[in-house]
Amino acid sequence: MISGINNDNDLEFIERELQEREKSNNLRQLNSVYPKDAVTVIKNGKSLINFSSNDYLGLSKHPKIIAASQDYLNQYGTGSTASRLVTGTYDIHEKLEQKLAKLCGKESALLFNTGFQANTTIIPTLVNQQSLILCDRLIHSSLLQGILLSKAQWKRYKHNDLNHLDKLLQKAILQGYNRILIVTETVFSMEGDRSDVDALIQLSQQYNTLLYLDDAHALGIMGEKGMGLTANKSGIDISLGTFGKAIGSFGAFITTSKLMRDYLINCCPGFIYTTALPPAVIGSIDAAFDIIPRLDQERKYLLQQVNYVQNKLKNLGYQVLNSNSPIIPVIIGDEMQALNLSQYLEKNGILATAIRPPTVPKNTARIRLVLSSQHQPEHINYLIDLLQQYHEF
Ligand SMILES: Cc1ncc(COP(=O)(O)O)c(C=O)c1O
Repeated sequence: MISGINNDNDLEFIERELQEREKSNNLRQLNSVYPKDAVTVIKNGKSLINFSSNDYLGLSKHPKIIAASQDYLNQYGTGSTASRLVTGTYDIHEKLEQKLAKLCGKESALLFNTGFQANTTIIPTLVNQQSLILCDRLIHSSLLQGILLSKAQWKRYKHNDLNHLDKLLQKAILQGYNRILIVTETVFSMEGDRSDVDALIQLSQQYNTLLYLDDAHALGIMGEKGMGLTANKSGIDISLGTFGKAIGSFGAFITTSKLMRDYLINCCPGFIYTTALPPAVIGSIDAAFDIIPRLDQERKYLLQQVNYVQNKLKNLGYQVLNSNSPIIPVIIGDEMQALNLSQYLEKNGILATAIRPPTVPKNTARIRLVLSSQHQPEHINYLIDLLQQYHEF
């Protein structure tokens, strides 16, 4: 044995952690499903209506998108074979970036392999030890990981409380930071509520900060032509969109200035040191953005259904957060009770996963219901009936 090494190196720490999670009903397991259609999965041989996926418009099964993906696969092959800066930039990557920039009303766009990769590696590229990051208390883990990886100091403001952010900014500008970066989401992934993008831009301009907005859950379903809540707005340094949610595919992009794009191409490790997105994925995204601007009816229907479900569940006595997005969090509190409700729904044909700490704050375990424009009124009414029976029982 080499002296100086604590020989607790026998992986006991892993067992302890997993046992701890099991004891607090927070142990995670992978459950395999087969996606039969946009709102149905087969799990253990049983058909379930899916109220947990982020496929808000059902595009993962759209025949034109699948055909475009196959077409790019046939033309360009299965992989991009290198990073973007080596030989992984094809014309299809560049054309897609130009198309996204144009649709979003921005100077330029840059693809990333995932939203997680973008958030964790762009944020540290924007700041250093002399900088300060101010972020919303409830930001997504990928943003938080990016902040933790950066060498900057950071503080959180109360959820969606821009007066609190203003107060922190007033103090911060007196403290000699070289840069202040504001980081938040436009639609919060676990709460479903929105931030006030115009007010954030205004604060960022007033205090001369950088502004980083994660628009993952708005893209496709909100804003003009579904291009998100940051589209066509100036004053946002970086806006992130992901393709794994309403776009029904995989990957992410940012819209930004040409200058910032050049900086990230040169300095952002999560862009530089990774293989470019594969052609089949680019094909599906490209086709999805031909379709999305025309889906106003679907977007309208979706938000009507959100209103309907929220009102019904509130009337039944559920604690439903006031979201104005297809994400409807039903707060249960206790982890075991959230798991019990999820299991009851599954027994009766509905997939609605329980979300537990640390993904959400302690004592706020929840069922995160997610609506899709492909859910028919009978799917939705069936969900409400089941929740009513559960509540009465
Ligand atoms: C707000 C937010 N940002 C970023 C991500 C990560 O995106 P991706 O799934 O592309 O890694 C997610 C997805 O879970 C998210 O909800």
